[in-house]
Amino acid sequence: MSLGYQSPRRRRAGDMTWGIIASMLFASFGFGGTFSYERSEKLCFPDDFIFGVATAAYQIEGAWNTSGKGESIWDRYTHERPDRIFDHHNGDVAADSYHLFRQDVRMLEYLGVQHYRFSISWPRTLPSGLSNEINEDGIRYYMELLDELNSHGISPIVTMYHWDLPQALQDLGGWTNPIIAEYFVDYARVLFDHFGDKVNVWLTFNEPLSFCHDGYGGLDAPGAHSSGFEDYLCAHNVLRAHGMVYRLYMDQYKDKIKSVGITLDFSWLEPATTSDADQKAAETARQFYFGWFAHPIFSKTGDYPPIMRERVDTISKRQHFTRSRLPSFTPEEVEMIRGSSDFLGLNHYTTYLIAKNKGKISLTPSFEADMGGIVSQKKEWPKSNSTWLKVVPWGFRKSLNWVRLAYDNPTVFITENGMSLERGLKDSRRINYLDGYLKALLTAMTKDNCRVVGYTYWSLMDNFEWTRGFSERFGLYEVDYDSPNKVRTARSSAEYFKQLAQTRCIPTWNYTV
Ligand code: NOJ
Repeated sequence: MSLGYQSPRRRRAGDMTWGIIASMLFASFGFGGTFSYERSEKLCFPDDFIFGVATAAYQIEGAWNTSGKGESIWDRYTHERPDRIFDHHNGDVAADSYHLFRQDVRMLEYLGVQHYRFSISWPRTLPSGLSNEINEDGIRYYMELLDELNSHGISPIVTMYHWDLPQALQDLGGWTNPIIAEYFVDYARVLFDHFGDKVNVWLTFNEPLSFCHDGYGGLDAPGAHSSGFEDYLCAHNVLRAHGMVYRLYMDQYKDKIKSVGITLDFSWLEPATTSDADQKAAETARQFYFGWFAHPIFSKTGDYPPIMRERVDTISKRQHFTRSRLPSFTPEEVEMIRGSSDFLGLNHYTTYLIAKNKGKISLTPSFEADMGGIVSQKKEWPKSNSTWLKVVPWGFRKSLNWVRLAYDNPTVFITENGMSLERGLKDSRRINYLDGYLKALLTAMTKDNCRVVGYTYWSLMDNFEWTRGFSERFGLYEVDYDSPNKVRTARSSAEYFKQLAQTRCIPTWNYTV
């Protein structure tokens, strides 16, 4: 099943000038190394499967205070608390894609991808977060980017919110204040009105687990560090906001826009042992980390997962709260949110082990205590350059199958998957990661019948990796942050990905550099 649009890239197949342009670009982006590929007939994705790459506004755009852009929570946080960022850097300039987006599109064209997933910055379009003041320069910027993509036959997939909340809204409590759902709807309406003709596929939110759990429950921006409390309030309002935007699209924009979904992150959670207690703890953890957002939207019954409701209610009582720390939806809200997504955008990177936490539950609230599992990873799993990201391809297949069984085989679109390494162009370990994860994905599709329609690599190029600054590089293209014009250079993995995107078959590769 497709996401509801025809990839223009496919219509361009056979364009004779393409190879010439590509080889010029190849030279201009300076790939150095030799590869040999064979086309493997056996390991191919379906003809209508689409390949693309992803980025996000704060991580690449820079121009943090240019031409009317408002301040975001990540601007404020990195400026006021550089100590909270591993290398003390910020996204003020990042990869400077605000100025260099035409180069980015040339890179996409070189890769031959069918789609580009990027996000719109809420404070660049609405500086105070509210729709009474629209920043025309922000509209112009995204309009030009969309036109550039369109003229190169690359379909945009646009995320409305990839963590850069307008600071003015955070001053009102951000995602913990219920009013924000109304403001998010106003923002979505501005996006649909201005860009609806050019964007068929929209994602409301990127990884609410990350920005609620780590931002309101932890030390990502805004750094509320209020686990088991503000993270639940954040999630509640995000789910309401998502449902409301989906209903807005269904009621008023259905003729203009093809599909609206949400991106959720799901790391596979494997029981640490075969004991019943660990099996049960792992399933509970899946419901807390993934079901928290997926169950209200994708299950038949809607609302939070019953086990989450039960555990947080019980533990809240024991902690002498007068009401559960997990808020409740009204019956109308349950219905509004249930089924509010045309597809599931899935981000998957890694796997963890879960063991039952046999310790006493503390009086201090926390998401981890509510969840009741101890999280770890196996020492022998291959490492990346991110402490949390170990290379475990089989976890991808298990995640996809869990989703298939839990939510009646929904249409899944892989909106992120990727690996960080240190600086360097010869990234055979990234190619190895891709090879393993793509094979796991293909097996889930062909052997297990999981319904997956597209794959998106994170990321097109190196970018600002949140509290890890520029120290972790996920790009198919390396960015030289020291050069004034942020020179982008293709890595070996870009050549691999190009083969993949253009043939739809997993390349067999000999690393002969
Ligand atoms: C998830 C996020 O969506 C993205 O912003 C981040 O850079 C990658 N994963 C890698 O951590």
